[in-house]
Amino acid sequence: MAKLTEMLADVQRRFAADADAAESEHALESVRIAYLGRNGEVTLVRRTIGTLPESERPGAGKAINDAVGAMEARLEAARGKLESRRFDAELAASIDVTFPAIAPQVGSIHPVRRIIEQSCDYFTRHGFAVVVGPEAEPDYYNFDALNIPADHPARESFDSFWLNDSLLLRPHTSPMQIRTMQQHRPPIAIVAPGKCFRRDAVDARHLFQFHQIEGLLVAQGIHLGHLKGMLTGLCRELFGADQVVRFRPSYFPFTEPSAEVDTTCPKCKGRGPTSPGAQAAQPPGGAQVRSTGVPVKTTGVPDARSALGCNMCGGSGWIELGGSGMVHPNVLREVGYDPDVYSGWAFGFGVERLGLPRYEVDDIRRFIDSDPDFLEQLS
Ligand code: PHE
Repeated sequence: MAKLTEMLADVQRRFAADADAAESEHALESVRIAYLGRNGEVTLVRRTIGTLPESERPGAGKAINDAVGAMEARLEAARGKLESRRFDAELAASIDVTFPAIAPQVGSIHPVRRIIEQSCDYFTRHGFAVVVGPEAEPDYYNFDALNIPADHPARESFDSFWLNDSLLLRPHTSPMQIRTMQQHRPPIAIVAPGKCFRRDAVDARHLFQFHQIEGLLVAQGIHLGHLKGMLTGLCRELFGADQVVRFRPSYFPFTEPSAEVDTTCPKCKGRGPTSPGAQAAQPPGGAQVRSTGVPVKTTGVPDARSALGCNMCGGSGWIELGGSGMVHPNVLREVGYDPDVYSGWAFGFGVERLGLPRYEVDDIRRFIDSDPDFLEQLS
């Protein structure tokens, strides 16, 4: 027993010295393992209990346990001391409260998404539903059902990315006209925003992947006036209260009559040519000019003297938004609607095209090159 007591005292002495010398919490942990760990010094002492006479064993066990308790208390105290020393050091370190903070990066809705939301908001306020559909569409929805049979030359302009013999990435959102009309009976009032794909060379005005927003209204007695009214309202919502809309005769197999839709250039307010002189006040097509300089009536063709014009509209005074027209009777027949009872209009606008004048951006590629500086300016 005397030997064990002596061993224990020796262990405790060395432990105290090592614990006091530990300069870090890590070093202190090593001391703990060396003495109190499973194969530590205390365990070695404990193993000698077996060599003692039976009567001395309980006393020896207690002595060891007491020693362990004291050692643990000492470890705890040393740990506390190290911690407060570290804390004091941190406090003592000089902090420059005038140093500029790292500004958090705050995201915002992408301008293309914002135009889609704003347009959908306008149409839903007027009782339209928003629908979305697949980006890969069978040729039936892309073409056949839209009065574009297999050998029709109009397929050329929509020729797109084919996934197999009959499935392609949709080149326009017009398939949503068919999908909606097949599922519902008139009256139909929908807008369908979404991605489209075309085999176009990318330049300042074209992307091979872009967004369109499609509109469709079918009921009894619907006419072109309803279309022009809704589109004028949309343009006023997006570009300002004085916008006007004009239709230019065009051709789409799925509408008759068909029209390209233009709106007054929001940048030059439809003035077109901005060269000094009298022409600047002359809006396209000989429209009347109010005191604000905004055309209130539009007829005829763009001003031809526009070589020196506004860089947004190229001097024409007009921005092209997309196609439109009255739904072709063959399309109505295809979905089982009687064209003698129902009529309707449809339009398909390029969202990025709307974005150019909306944000006065000169190159459509700006919308997809993910430049935070650009996006921040528009946020
Ligand atoms: N889908 C046509 C296009 O992408 C636009 C359009 C839609 C024209 C609806 C008329 C009616 O060019």
